[in-house]
Amino acid sequence: MDIFKIEGPVKLSGDIRINGSKNAALPIMAATILAPGKSTILDVPDLADINVLKTLLTSLGATVETRQKGEVEIDTSVIDNPVGEYDIVRKMRASICILGPLLARCGRAEVSMPGGCAIGDRPVDIHLRGLRELGAEICLKNGNIVATAPKGLIGKQIFLGGPFGSTVLGTANILMAATLAKGTTVIESAACEPEIGDLAGILNAMGAKITGMGSPRLTIEGVKSLSPVKYRVIGDRIEAGTFMVAAAITKGNLRLHNCNLDHMLAIVDRLEHIGVTIDTADDGCVVTRTGSIKAADITTQTYPGFPTDLQAQLMALLAHADGNSIVTEKIFPDRFMHVAEMNRMAANIRKEGASAIIAGVKNLVAAPIMASDLRASAALVLAAMAAHGTTIINRVYHIDRGYEKIEKKLNAAGAKITRESV
Ligand code: EPU
Repeated sequence: MDIFKIEGPVKLSGDIRINGSKNAALPIMAATILAPGKSTILDVPDLADINVLKTLLTSLGATVETRQKGEVEIDTSVIDNPVGEYDIVRKMRASICILGPLLARCGRAEVSMPGGCAIGDRPVDIHLRGLRELGAEICLKNGNIVATAPKGLIGKQIFLGGPFGSTVLGTANILMAATLAKGTTVIESAACEPEIGDLAGILNAMGAKITGMGSPRLTIEGVKSLSPVKYRVIGDRIEAGTFMVAAAITKGNLRLHNCNLDHMLAIVDRLEHIGVTIDTADDGCVVTRTGSIKAADITTQTYPGFPTDLQAQLMALLAHADGNSIVTEKIFPDRFMHVAEMNRMAANIRKEGASAIIAGVKNLVAAPIMASDLRASAALVLAAMAAHGTTIINRVYHIDRGYEKIEKKLNAAGAKITRESV
């Protein structure tokens, strides 16, 4: 198992290219199931989660080849085993996004029911409700979701909201299934995240008829078939936000490339409030901090609100603020595993229900700590770069799920991170 040894404090400066988005690439790769033949997806990040999806697609009958950096060719001419096996699906919850396209293509799909994870219990009831509305028959057998559509899928108006608002992968599943359904589907309370817009982008390029991207109402006019395409994935707004915090927490200066600030308005708003300067540049931005860190209140929300996937990273920054901040989780109320680890580094954070109250301290101090989930781990790397001494982060495999060579990118900008196998 790998660990990171991180020496701090450091001051970062330099250029960093942001990768294609993990959370856009995953449903986009699943969408190739709908279009028999060879699709080529560009700017796919090289990540553990992407590898899980490649394995999963291969197990369904597809052929997946990585041609050169970021270029993945997926041949879905044959999909003859519409079964998402437990041994693959258990490694990544997002595997659920094969359910909708498999059902639409094969009229039958079986996908192991995803379990909980470190950020909460994460049900998929809304995915199943949406597919049932389209005419699927669904039951649970031996821990597997078994979905069939004996009469094909039939479009209709579907309300897809849940107790925490819209669902990203739930919207992805229904959107993909609806492209080949008979008639028109209207998804109300659809997720507005840019990753859903990107998914609709590839589906339309394949020949689907989707309108309303970026709004909570998606209209899908079903078509008979879709064709394979070549498609480039958008930049990863969560990776970009993480590096923005890296510049801010180290009182540094980073020029980020392949970063679309239009997708990051809530993040820019909070960082500017905190005292970070973000200047637009050609294909991205320049992020600088010179003064002190101001306290701020942050509430995570569905897009265009502040993303839950950057909550932990912002908390690492606010741990150094002048004054008290409150961070409230409205998407995953239990997503606070990083609090105890940051407190081991002398942060002063108290959890109160779905909020954390952060009393800023002058310095964090190095300690041995444990990565618990992907974004929490990124937050610990950020904290460690600002902390005094050598921090050891255990279980960094979590970070490899969503950040491609994070230590190389940060080291090139002045960080002191070594990866060791123990
Ligand atoms: N929810 C339900 N029922 C459902 C589906 C969701 O109650 O059937 C609830 C969830 O429990 C949660 C809320 O709705 O409280 C929103 O969850 P959502 O379905 O939107 O999450 P997701 O689609 O499973 C994606 C990202 C997550 C990100 C969330 C929220 C991917 C692959 N994953 O998950 O990313 O946190 O949206 O924005 O796109 C990450 O990258 O680290 C990550 C966890």
